[in-house]
Amino acid sequence: MDRIKIIGGSRLSGQIPISGAKNAALPLLIASLLTDDRLTLKNVPNLADVNLLMRILRNHGVDLAVDGKRPGPKQHIGETFHLTARDIVDTTAPYELVSRMRASFWVLGPILARMHQTRVSLPGGCAIGTRPVDLHLEGLKALGADIEIENGYVVAKAPGGLVGNKVVFPKVSVGATHNVLLAAALAKGETVIENAAREPEIGDVAECLVKMGVEIEGIGSSTLRIQGRDRLEGAVHTVLPDRIETGTFAMAVAATGGDVTLTGTRADLLQNALDTLAKTGAEITTTPSSIKVTRNGADILPVSVETQPFPGFPTDLQAQFMALMTRATGTSVIRETIFENRFMHVQELVRLGAEISMHGDTATISGVGALHGAQVMATDLRASVSLVIAGLMADGETTINRVYHLDRGFEQLEQKLTACGAKIERVTGD
Ligand code: EPZ
Repeated sequence: MDRIKIIGGSRLSGQIPISGAKNAALPLLIASLLTDDRLTLKNVPNLADVNLLMRILRNHGVDLAVDGKRPGPKQHIGETFHLTARDIVDTTAPYELVSRMRASFWVLGPILARMHQTRVSLPGGCAIGTRPVDLHLEGLKALGADIEIENGYVVAKAPGGLVGNKVVFPKVSVGATHNVLLAAALAKGETVIENAAREPEIGDVAECLVKMGVEIEGIGSSTLRIQGRDRLEGAVHTVLPDRIETGTFAMAVAATGGDVTLTGTRADLLQNALDTLAKTGAEITTTPSSIKVTRNGADILPVSVETQPFPGFPTDLQAQFMALMTRATGTSVIRETIFENRFMHVQELVRLGAEISMHGDTATISGVGALHGAQVMATDLRASVSLVIAGLMADGETTINRVYHLDRGFEQLEQKLTACGAKIERVTGD
């Protein structure tokens, strides 16, 4: 198994090109199931999760052609995917594939909408919490689906097709919003989703559906009004920049000190996180397509945060921010309100010398003068990258095991950091 080795202490300086967003690319790839026409997606990041989802989609009958342009680390351009689901040849999404990536459960709505029936394995538990799917199922039932759970599979039927309706989510869910939005695109008549998630990735999917011929009002708001169509057309769409990758590198620069410009990204996608970072003493300067993060010698000030659905502070940046706070000049408090068990990084940060105490959903971090390199491992994507940030700050050598978590969601992580002066390398083998 590959490992990442980091020699900490280098300041970061230079430019980092930001990739297309994993969490937009995944539902956009799934949107290809909605039409027999070609969907072209530009700026698709080259990630393990994208490759795994493509295996699942191929199984359903999606054809893929790729033309990628990679003109060098400074001008990275993601790959262009041409997807065509002329026929859905298999309406079952099997356990072996769905259990490996939760987002693959989102094929449920689109296959049901197009084929009027589907069997999709329940996604199961996950390292960051129990993560139920009740909201997905209730939403699709409101559109007329008849849903049973049989042998670990969701068996959904809508013999006459789905019919638009009002769906009021009792709780904000990114995945349930995607699932119902994608299904509503092919439902008869109007669907209104209330208390929809407002994450920018939902807006990106909605914009793509509009290009495919669906009328949608309220994009970016918590009420989406969708006029379903009998058939969707092909479209060309560019995946929006990855706000979590952007925030991760911004926090890395705030952590090590230095001066880095993140290119091909937008501050409005993560304003709350950038404002939080500014309160820690980092200087943030933005243009419409770049963000410059600078910290030259100033202390890291302690700042407390609570994770919230968009536009609040994202749960997907909680671990990275905690890594930064381990070296703050005082005590900060981080409360995780989205997932009940998203603190797997805490004990690993402690191995590097951090002082963190836990109480329920709240971590209290007392900043220390230095972190010290050690062997660590993590059990999810964002936790792993928080250890990279900690390793960049620590004295000496840090080895991060189970690197496959990082490959799920960060494109060319080592290359991007090395180009800015970090001493980080991948060691292959066991
Ligand atoms: C998406 O997961 C993201 N995944 C996650 O990113 C992200 O952390 C999360 O949204 C929150 O922003 C992708 O986009 C692929 P939710 P999702 O449904 O859709 C509860 C990463 O690292 N809930 O918004 O699974 C749930 O348990 C990943 O890139 C129900 O109770 O998250 C949680 O407490 C990790 N019933 C809360 O809602 C349901 O039916 C929010 O979950 C569904 C969810």
